[in-house]
Amino acid sequence: MTVQPVGDPGFGVYLHWPFCAAKCPYCDFNSHVRHGGVDEAAFVAAFSAELAHFRSRTGARRVDTIFIGGGTPSLMHPATVSALLDRVSALWTVAANAEITIEANPSSVEAERFRGYRAAGVNRVSLGVQALNDADLKALGRLHDVAEARRAIALAQATFPRMSFDLIYARPGQTPEAWERELAEAIALSADHLSLYQLTVEEGTPFFALREAGKLKVPAPARAAELFELTQSVTRDAGLPAYEVSNHARPGAESRHNLVYWRYGEYVGSGPGAHGRYLEHGRRVVTFTERHPETWLSAVGAHGHGLAGGEVLNRSEEADEYLLMGLRLAEGIRTDRYESLAGRPLDPLRAAHLAEEGLIARGKDRIRATAAGILVLDALVADLSR
Ligand SMILES: C[S@@+](CC[C@H](N)C(=O)[O-])C[C@H]1O[C@@H](n2cnc3c(N)ncnc32)[C@H](O)[C@@H]1O
Ligand code: SF4
Repeated sequence: MTVQPVGDPGFGVYLHWPFCAAKCPYCDFNSHVRHGGVDEAAFVAAFSAELAHFRSRTGARRVDTIFIGGGTPSLMHPATVSALLDRVSALWTVAANAEITIEANPSSVEAERFRGYRAAGVNRVSLGVQALNDADLKALGRLHDVAEARRAIALAQATFPRMSFDLIYARPGQTPEAWERELAEAIALSADHLSLYQLTVEEGTPFFALREAGKLKVPAPARAAELFELTQSVTRDAGLPAYEVSNHARPGAESRHNLVYWRYGEYVGSGPGAHGRYLEHGRRVVTFTERHPETWLSAVGAHGHGLAGGEVLNRSEEADEYLLMGLRLAEGIRTDRYESLAGRPLDPLRAAHLAEEGLIARGKDRIRATAAGILVLDALVADLSR
């Protein structure tokens, strides 16, 4: 993969659109269904105000990436997307080559809408395909079928310079053979980027209740690990190796916005339930906003932002976060960056021990987690930073 150049990991803006046409039974993202419709103009006004608040705190910056995520942002009218992007450009300097991504759901994809997003400045789309067989799409509670997913992929490829799609694997009853076939089709269909997520059964979701009641059988850990290994080898052989635990790309086609997170760059997060991390007076602040859309809307009306909390990180917290994010990447972390964040180097004896145990691999100026290390990432970070 493209290894991080020395210097600035970038500055991104994340905008969260918290609405979906229906709630998928496995999903615990901050997404809500509003059968009566959504007042998009009211949300644009609130985003405009909250972004101005963040601009007053970050100062003038060059924006390298913008990501409109959700929820289902492709439910937005193109004029709404255009207004949001115009607002970001009015407040900060958006780089001429900025990556501007929107997430889309195949069931809400229309040619005209896609053309509108493209005209608004979007240059990358990330599609939630989830499965390439109809029975599993149904079991996942999706509103689209495979034919619709294929049409959405083709349309995205025809409309945007770059695209990616998501699949969920380790589904109930999924065999390695079936997943391998689907992966092969995904690789044949995909341009150059795939996000391949192992199904997680999150507490509070209908899938969780079904599993507890014995009505949903997800693959046992050994089978899930087998499917993970298969994912790694098939994508590697096809020239789309994992550059992050669940993200695969041809070299150069990585998601630049997500790299800002993983390389521990700075980003503003606006909208209901959005997180941000950026430097203010030389220290990294963490921000998060009200999750409930209408609560966020009234908070912005009252205070000019929907912040529900935030904190200033100390050096060791920053350094730990850098490890936690960076060790997800195949390129790993830079030891000099760790040192400058933590104010001290990593303990060489501890690093040597973890290398002997096969959990990390050390290069001249980088450390990366091995496949075994990735499986115990939290413990690895705790051990490495002690
Ligand atoms: C916030 S969703 C946005 C995409 C869009 N809303 C859609 O579903 O088509 C981002 C991705 O997270 C993944 N995801 C959501 N819940 C998951 C779960 N419980 N386990 C694994 N992946 C999940 C899905 O692949 C989904 O496309
Ligand atoms: S998976 Fe996507 S479409 Fe389904 S509820 Fe979550 S955010 Fe909405």
